[in-house]
Amino acid sequence: MGYPHLFSPGRIGNIHIKNRIIMAAMGTGLAGFNGEITANSLKYYEERARAGVGLIITEMATVDNELGKVNYIQLSVANDKYIPMLNRLAQYVQKYDCKIFIQLGHAGRLTTPQFLDGKQPVAPSPVGWGTQIPRELSLQEIKGLVNKFARGALRCQKAGIDGIEIHAAHGYLINQFLSPKTNLRTDNYGGSFKNRMRFLDEIIHAIRDNCGHDFPVIVRLSADEFIPGGIDLPMSQKIAQHLEGIGVDAIDVSNGLNVIETAAFDQGWKSYLAKGIKGVINIPVISVNVIRKPDFAEKLLQTESTDFIALARPLLADPEWVKKAREGREKEIQKCISCRYCIDQLNNGLHIACALNPRTGRELEFNDPKKSGEGKKVVVIGGGPAGMEAARGLAQRGFSPILFEKSDVLGGQLHLAKKGVNKDRVGWLIDFQTHEMQRLNIDIRLNHAATLEAVQKEQPYAVFIATGSSPVKPRVEGIDSPHVYLAEDILEDRASFKNRKILVVGAGMTGCETAEKIALQGNQVILAEMKDAIAEDVEKVTRNEKITNLKKFGVKILTQHKIGAVYQHKVTLYDLKTQTELLLKIDAVVIAIGVKPRDELVEIFRKAFPIVMIIGDVKKPGDISTALRGGFEKAYTLE
Ligand SMILES: Cc1cc2nc3c(=O)[nH]c(=O)nc-3n(C[C@H](O)[C@H](O)[C@H](O)COP(=O)(O)OP(=O)(O)OC[C@H]3O[C@@H](n4cnc5c(N)ncnc54)[C@H](O)[C@@H]3O)c2cc1C
Ligand SMILES: Cc1cc2nc3c(=O)[nH]c(=O)nc-3n(C[C@H](O)[C@H](O)[C@H](O)COP(=O)(O)O)c2cc1C
Repeated sequence: MGYPHLFSPGRIGNIHIKNRIIMAAMGTGLAGFNGEITANSLKYYEERARAGVGLIITEMATVDNELGKVNYIQLSVANDKYIPMLNRLAQYVQKYDCKIFIQLGHAGRLTTPQFLDGKQPVAPSPVGWGTQIPRELSLQEIKGLVNKFARGALRCQKAGIDGIEIHAAHGYLINQFLSPKTNLRTDNYGGSFKNRMRFLDEIIHAIRDNCGHDFPVIVRLSADEFIPGGIDLPMSQKIAQHLEGIGVDAIDVSNGLNVIETAAFDQGWKSYLAKGIKGVINIPVISVNVIRKPDFAEKLLQTESTDFIALARPLLADPEWVKKAREGREKEIQKCISCRYCIDQLNNGLHIACALNPRTGRELEFNDPKKSGEGKKVVVIGGGPAGMEAARGLAQRGFSPILFEKSDVLGGQLHLAKKGVNKDRVGWLIDFQTHEMQRLNIDIRLNHAATLEAVQKEQPYAVFIATGSSPVKPRVEGIDSPHVYLAEDILEDRASFKNRKILVVGAGMTGCETAEKIALQGNQVILAEMKDAIAEDVEKVTRNEKITNLKKFGVKILTQHKIGAVYQHKVTLYDLKTQTELLLKIDAVVIAIGVKPRDELVEIFRKAFPIVMIIGDVKKPGDISTALRGGFEKAYTLE
């Protein structure tokens, strides 16, 4: 066995857990409009259970449909009517010897005002969140909420759920009571440590009164809120000791800021928090955040930094993470690259999805692909992410894909993408896909630019075109001068500068990453963008991180500026707002204004073959998620 600690059994309360791997709570947006478990949620959780997770902690279920929701579509335990479907959920996962806890929570001041039909959000104190000021809960309301948590837990127990996790982290209501930053009450629920603990204490006692002492109750804490005057590690050590003292069965150690990290955070960067809590209590501790590889997880357990490890996004990217780790198939694990696509989906009011795994959240829809390929040849043109995902899906369905790639390597533009600052994990995707090509024995033809004749020779049943995209240049005077470069020249290190003044034109993801790299090489960088904002194609938190970095590295950002002409040592920029021209002294210009589909083959092939599928950037320039999704869906649906 490769990971003796990871696959040793553990215990939480009186519950036996077959290994040390927990699926961490994640909102899914898969519940019904009224908060009930749906067939989609059942399938989503079942897949993770079937592949060997020891314990699933579900998405946060609200105990209060009226004031406690975080999302429109959110699981609920606020009424007895939810019990039958919760029971279905328990049955779905327990048949694989997987345990399941429901996470219970209340958003407090972090709810979204449009859910409240004009009512004001509630909190321990009227401490604002953005523009939203909550009202202080009355003593009677606090008692009511304690009761709601207890009734919610009882419903879970009646439904055959194995235990519950109380969500006391991430700035939600219970966290608001625990934190000196948000709890300014002067009654029995605020002020001293004891008073700030009281709300959570009462919830736990009420759950015990309703569910008995054998029903596991664990608590998720923000062990450090990373805000001055907020909860820090010493304070949460005290909280954890207190919770152990009143009979809580385990502590799930999360934190306040950067709960769902960008790619800038290292594996296990936060495990010191779990270790810090473990050092002062005797009940089990759960460590979470950016645990990506089985050997890293094993090390955390082996060094006694934690008793359990929890995986959130890794199980979106690959529901079979656990099974593959157990069977020594680590190279087959699709590892999460922390792109935050998943949370972006939820924040945009959509259901859970993963950029790397097109099935996530759609397990029911894309269940059991038809093995109807009968060895029929399918030519896939282009070995970028779209082409490789298509070839993979086709092989799994019994077709015989032949993959033409004109360069000497698979991965397409991912090789450029991984060159940006903090982007090396994009390389994990290249490695995963390339390994899949080998594993599935796909006929790969490197250094083969597909031509009509070459493809016709294969007499394919269908052709998939995944030729990607190529950069565009603005048609302005001087654009072909030797001191004008493309972003890829910089990213691929074909050109580099030192102590120069460089203009980067175009501030989408590629332009920003290129500007960042040039600035880090020790140059003065001006980044010009036609639109009124930069990095608009980047997920919000990653985008803010990028902008902060650009500013830190002294990059001067000019929005609403368009390139006019390029001369020997200067350029003209046109200010779209003031409609004036600007003359800038520069040493070189780098163009990053976007890409266009590489679609020369499309019409020719459409005329020559009955079935032609167009996928990825050649269909419409996009990103990893659209490339993989296109490849996957077309391979899945090919008749
Ligand atoms: C600098 C940069 C950073 C990026 N960062 C991100 C990011 O952080 N996140 C994200 O989601 N997306 C990112 N992207 C976008 C992402 O890389 C692309 O959307 C994705 O690679 C498109 O995949 P594809 O398979 O459609 O095309 P490509 O990746 O372009 O692959 C196409 C392949 O087809 C081959 N080919 C072309 N013509 C032929 C032919 N005639 N015969 C055979 N082979 C041919 C090419 O050689 C290439 O290998 C980035 C892109 C760039 C340039
Ligand atoms: C899409 C998404 C939804 C989440 N929803 C919850 C939630 O409902 N409750 C919770 O405690 N944490 C939630 N989290 C945080 C995760 O449980 C976890 O702490 C975090 O993602 C870091 O772990 P990871 O690096 O393994 O993803 C969510 C995370 C993601 C990505």
